[in-house]
Amino acid sequence: MRLEHVIASGLANPDSAVGVYAGDEESYALFAPPFDPIIADYHGFGPGGRHESDLEVARLNVPNPDPAGRHVVSTRIRVARNLCCFPLGPALSKRERRIVEATVVRALASLSGDLAGNYYPLYEMDPATKERLIADHFLFKEGDRFLEAAGLNRDWPDARGIFHNPSKTFLVWVNEEDQLRIISMEPGAELQRVFARLARALAELERRLTFAYSERLGYLTSCPTNLGTAMRASVHIRLPGLAADEARLKALAAKHGLQVRGTHGEHSQSEGAVYDVSNKRRLGITEVEAVRQLAEGVAALIAAEQRI
Ligand code: ARG
Repeated sequence: MRLEHVIASGLANPDSAVGVYAGDEESYALFAPPFDPIIADYHGFGPGGRHESDLEVARLNVPNPDPAGRHVVSTRIRVARNLCCFPLGPALSKRERRIVEATVVRALASLSGDLAGNYYPLYEMDPATKERLIADHFLFKEGDRFLEAAGLNRDWPDARGIFHNPSKTFLVWVNEEDQLRIISMEPGAELQRVFARLARALAELERRLTFAYSERLGYLTSCPTNLGTAMRASVHIRLPGLAADEARLKALAAKHGLQVRGTHGEHSQSEGAVYDVSNKRRLGITEVEAVRQLAEGVAALIAAEQRI
């Protein structure tokens, strides 16, 4: 991985918020001059920082922030993971990507109970099923120009796919922006239950796979915004009152450490006053803290909405 590869996506997409991607663990050390200030700015995590992980469900204990079910449509918590001892996606060869897919699919196939499911390779999926999965927020979009320029769409759709249980409360994306995106989601705002399912799935997968982890940066990901916990805990929330002034909504969310995205995630617009609200920081914060931050911020947004 050379510097020109690290910055390729930002060069091709001048509207990038971040614009850099790492090809492996070494990229973060070798190209510290561009990466470190970005990491400090995005996560508030300095060069002397050391990441701590905490996936202990018992330490979370958050109430449902919308027990009446008036605003929160659904809750989704995902983490990114990559396999230890392989390059990250931007530098992965076609052969390595297939090895990653086979290794991950084999691990997933041995899960049981509510985590058991099937793997659907992208190249086999019929277009109608694919469209439906994307529209329902279960599957990644295709042809993202940021990923394209970072080299993450090479050989598409080879070795890409999605695993999910029949109820689609547990899903794993394979070889998109990261080798694994592990997702726990369900309708409503039971954050505690969504987190518990994710933590359990991670514990099971850690017994079968070894993930790339750095003492300083936590779980390694291709984009520096995802380092550390690699966790984005989010809700889809309907806020018709606050929608009248999006700048104010974003400012209020930011006060609670939250980021506001459109209905279909990043680089999308809101539809029907439904927003995707999630923790911004992922590094230098624990998983438990990130979910707690979401619970508190969502409760504050709902309180503000109800005053309107
Ligand atoms: N590279 C894109 C940008 O700078 C995305 C950054 C964060 N999002 C992500 N999916 N990694 O706008």
